[in-house]
Amino acid sequence: MAKGEIVGGLLAPHPPHIVYGENHWRNEPKSECGWEVLRWGYERARKHFLEKKPDVILVHSPHWQTVIGHHFLGMPEFHGLSVDPIFPNLFRFNYDIKVDVELAEMIADEGREAGLITKMMRNPHFRVDYGTIVSCHMMNPEWDIPIVGISSNNSPYYFSNEMGQNEMIKLGQATKRAIEKSGRRAILLASNTLSHRHFTTEPEIPEDMSREHVYEHSGYLWDMKVIDLMRRGRTRELIAILPEFMDHAVSEVKAGSFAWMLSALDFPDYPGELFGYWTVIGTGNAVVGWDPQLKAAATTQGNREPIEN
Ligand SMILES: [Fe+2]
Repeated sequence: MAKGEIVGGLLAPHPPHIVYGENHWRNEPKSECGWEVLRWGYERARKHFLEKKPDVILVHSPHWQTVIGHHFLGMPEFHGLSVDPIFPNLFRFNYDIKVDVELAEMIADEGREAGLITKMMRNPHFRVDYGTIVSCHMMNPEWDIPIVGISSNNSPYYFSNEMGQNEMIKLGQATKRAIEKSGRRAILLASNTLSHRHFTTEPEIPEDMSREHVYEHSGYLWDMKVIDLMRRGRTRELIAILPEFMDHAVSEVKAGSFAWMLSALDFPDYPGELFGYWTVIGTGNAVVGWDPQLKAAATTQGNREPIEN
């Protein structure tokens, strides 16, 4: 069997609003439009990465939180209705998910050997979270590629940002080893928003884009700083400041998805391609992709001095 490889890694945020804006038949609520810059960004990312014909899409989601260990979807199929607990008016999604259980088990085994606690989710009625669903749907609305769904362990919340991030780095390395052994061509999705302070009231028309803007300037500046490091391929520097970003901008990267992915990609020193940045209820969201085969040929490389805080 040929050695497997990661053919793409994406920062793939999951606000349910973007699925609502898409008006896909799987989602019950209907919109007029909304959050186009992110939706068009996903469209371009999809076009680029799906052309690589991946066998599997892996996703690490902040909205499947597990207190003890790292859990993996462990049944071949999951069906159901996923309702966003905060925005049931925007997201009631009929899902029908195929899972690459063999690869999920291989990652769980590799993680265990590296000293992590891992567990397979074998309950066929388990309700898959909206973070997993939104990121996967925006990358592949046809749902014709199996996924590996990974929970986010709560250690950053119970212990510290640094301790949690170190766990995710181990998990990323275990993921990479398992993919190589499996022979799969894999795409990784880090289902994380950037700055995460947000509005607490909703306009009468949720997709009224005259009401959508950055919540606070300091969070926006943080987003620009971390995006600049992504576009320059300075991901080791980026990973070093993420714990500070988590505290200052309440960033959702605290859940570890982004650290997991960067680690699995061996902390790329080539530029990430920025496909789109926009706010959703004031939070910062960026779709950014790393292509290990393309490397330096990304078109949106940062080319200025980094912003100093
Ligand atoms: Fe979220």
